[in-house]
Amino acid sequence: MAAGFAGKTAVITGAGQGIGFEIARQLALAGAIVYLNDLDAELATVAAAKITAEGAVCKAVPGDAGDQGFVQQMIQDIGLQQGRLDIAIANAGITLFGDFLNYPQTSLYKVLHTNIGGSFILAQAAAQYMKTQPEGGSILFMSSVTGHQAHENLAAYSMTKAAIEMLAKNLVIELSKYKITVNAIAPGATMTERTAGDPDYLSVWSRITPLGRPGTATDMAAAACFLVSSAARHITGQTLVIDGGWSAVSPSPY
Ligand SMILES: NC(=O)c1ccc[n+]([C@@H]2O[C@H](COP(=O)([O-])OP(=O)(O)OC[C@H]3O[C@@H](n4cnc5c(N)ncnc54)[C@H](O)[C@@H]3O)[C@@H](O)[C@H]2O)c1
Repeated sequence: MAAGFAGKTAVITGAGQGIGFEIARQLALAGAIVYLNDLDAELATVAAAKITAEGAVCKAVPGDAGDQGFVQQMIQDIGLQQGRLDIAIANAGITLFGDFLNYPQTSLYKVLHTNIGGSFILAQAAAQYMKTQPEGGSILFMSSVTGHQAHENLAAYSMTKAAIEMLAKNLVIELSKYKITVNAIAPGATMTERTAGDPDYLSVWSRITPLGRPGTATDMAAAACFLVSSAARHITGQTLVIDGGWSAVSPSPY
């Protein structure tokens, strides 16, 4: 087991599967005590058990990452159990597709609740705890390339991702004095349980991605683990795009 996060305590939301699960797994295998949240209680329990079975420490914390009362309680409990919180990752995010002109208010509020609300609330609760530690802590948000580039039927989702990146920048003002860093990663197309249902996903994204394939959860977790590690202690307010070069290139006219 790698020792990069030995003695550290981490919490990650929406980590029952996909990118969040792999981040939780890599942090735990590198020595962190990981609290794994998911809205789906069974998914959270099974995910934490899988990581524990690999010889790491991971505890399931089912609940709604967009609910302030739940998140505050979760952070308080972690503090009571471990006496510290070093890493908080707001990974929970939902995508509800739909054209702008007919987008239902219910969908809009759901996306705002989880993506923006969940990120803001976790950062706030975690920072309130981390500021009491002389060594501060690391907060990481989960953005998307859609926060930088327009995509059909994703007006609401992409708006939330752009907002999250601005939140990372804005918090530099209030949290730097406590040695708390705040960054984001912006994945491009990534193969997860969510995208596994599309039989053309791999071939389509392999064709249009400069590095020749879509991303994997492992690619995203490696970048996330770097940004919450001590090696990144002088990096804050930044977003790291991980998309195989896809968003660096404009569509060719030929
Ligand atoms: N997969 C991609 O291609 C991709 C690309 C860019 C960004 N992202 C972002 O990465 C993050 C993870 O994406 P993924 O594809 O791995 O997700 P996923 O949909 O596979 O998994 C997300 C998990 O979050 C949980 N969840 C949903 N709402 C929640 C809530 N309110 N509280 C707690 N848990 C909740 C779900 O139950 C699910 O287990 C999201 O923020 C997503 O927007 C994903």
